[in-house]
Amino acid sequence: MTQDELKQLVAREALKHVVEDAVVGVGSGSTVNFFIDALAGIKGRIEGAVAASEASAERLKRHGIRVFDLNSVDALPVYVDGADEVNEHLYMIKGGGGALTREKIVAAVAKRFVCICDASKLVQVLGKFPLPVEVVPMARSYVGRELLRLGGQPELRENFRTDNGNLIIDCHGLSIVDPPKLEAELNNIAGVVSNGIFARRGADLLLLGGPQGVRSLTVTQA
Ligand code: 5RP
Repeated sequence: MTQDELKQLVAREALKHVVEDAVVGVGSGSTVNFFIDALAGIKGRIEGAVAASEASAERLKRHGIRVFDLNSVDALPVYVDGADEVNEHLYMIKGGGGALTREKIVAAVAKRFVCICDASKLVQVLGKFPLPVEVVPMARSYVGRELLRLGGQPELRENFRTDNGNLIIDCHGLSIVDPPKLEAELNNIAGVVSNGIFARRGADLLLLGGPQGVRSLTVTQA
C-alpha cells in the first residue's frame, strides 16, 4: 500500500468516531484532506464542522459541509487531525503545515482527539521532525536565539505566513525527552504564539494505518 492509501484508510476509519448530529472538529494536512473527503459521504448526518485552517475550511465548504466559527459552538465531541510524529504516549509534533496554533485551540475545546496517521509517523522519541514554533514577526530573532540556547537549530520557514499572520521557525536537532515540560518552556518565551508539541493536550486515540490495516492505540495501552 502507498502512503496515500494508508492515509485514506485511517481517514475512513475515523468516520466511525464522528458523533452524529454534532459539530466535528477538523484539523489540517493531507491525511485530514482524505478525512474531509470521506466526511462528505456522511454530511447529512452531522451538523457541520469547525476547521483548524483556512485550507480545511475551504475544502469542507467545497463539499457542502457547513463550517462553524469556534466561538459559536458550545461543544465539540470529537476533533480529528493528523500529526508529523506521534509517540506511544500519544504526544505529538504537529505544525508541518503551519496550522499548529488553531489546531491546538480546536483540540483544547474538543472532548476527544482522534489522531490519524500512517505508520511512518510513530516514533520512540519526538524531535527528528523539526519542531514548528509560531512566532510574532518582531520576535523572530529573539526567539531564534532562545531556541539556540535550548540546544536547537532554528530555521525560519521561507516565504510562509500562518493563517494568523505570523512566522514559523522550524527547530531542528531537539531530542524531546520530556514533551510536556518543553511544550510549557517554549510557550514561556516572549513572542512565541504556540509550539508544535501537543503533549499537555495529547491525542485520546491514535488510528495508525499500516500494511496489516488500522491499529487503534490509546494511552492506557502504552
Ligand atoms: C498541520 C499538521 C498536520 O496534521 C501534520 O503536518 C500532518 O500532515 P500530513 O497529514 O499531511 O502528513 O499538523 O499543521
